[in-house]
Amino acid sequence: MCEISKELIERLSKATKVVVSTGAGISAESGVPTFRGEDGIWKKMRPEELATVDGFMSNPTLVWEWYQYRRDLMNKVEPNPGHYAIAEFEKIFPEFTLITQNIDGLHARAGSQRILELHGNILKNKCHECGQPFDDKINLDGGLPHCGCGGMIRPDVVWFGEMLPQDTMGEAFQSAEDSQVFFSVGTSSLVQPAATLPYMASRAGAYVIEVNIEQTPLTPISNVFLEGKSGEVLPRIVEALK
Ligand code: OAD
Repeated sequence: MCEISKELIERLSKATKVVVSTGAGISAESGVPTFRGEDGIWKKMRPEELATVDGFMSNPTLVWEWYQYRRDLMNKVEPNPGHYAIAEFEKIFPEFTLITQNIDGLHARAGSQRILELHGNILKNKCHECGQPFDDKINLDGGLPHCGCGGMIRPDVVWFGEMLPQDTMGEAFQSAEDSQVFFSVGTSSLVQPAATLPYMASRAGAYVIEVNIEQTPLTPISNVFLEGKSGEVLPRIVEALK
């Protein structure tokens, strides 16, 4: 089990501006599969068919079935101690920002209040043409769902090649630049622009802490690498800060 040093806890006790950026690894202990690695989703599924506009346009039924399947899965799982620890961080640090690439909604269910969701949220839908939001109770029995404008309704998530929500991204960049401590948790640090955030924070003088079960491209520039499951490492930090 990785060591959480006294120096690290002292630094955190003094920190006021803290950012946590999470990826699929934070939800792995809840039973949500990650994307890369041995059992990763992208080992079995083709992202270009399931997570691009072209894929949706050429086979919307397949894409819808895939997202309904994941919705069902995410409705069955629960937040884990890693999500709860991050919700505690929000109470501990005076200026705290949570940024996530995840679309599973588990941070909110664990009690985090303010969440910058870079890749959208699987529980929401929108019209692909006009952007009008739709509630989550889409039923495919009646065929593919359409908006009043004629456009196809789709999950409100960001697919490969699409722009991220600009306001959310702007806030994420700003908080990374302003942070004193930046945690990167459970992400392979491979997908842009989220992967840029810790580098930006580091260049602006933040202390970068990585929590992951294995090293990533971010590890060499991190000030501390805490090797282990986020559901085990993060609650230990909360405990030490109490
Ligand atoms: P990845 O699947 O690329 O990476 C998951 C990371 O979590 C890996 O570095 C694992 O080592 C780590 N990990 C696994 N279990 C862990 C645990 N219990 N505790 C801590 N770390 C653990 O997922 P992301 O980096 O989130 O985008 O992927 C980024 C984006 O790529 C996703 O948002 C998604 C995907 O394609 C879109 O769909 C647009």
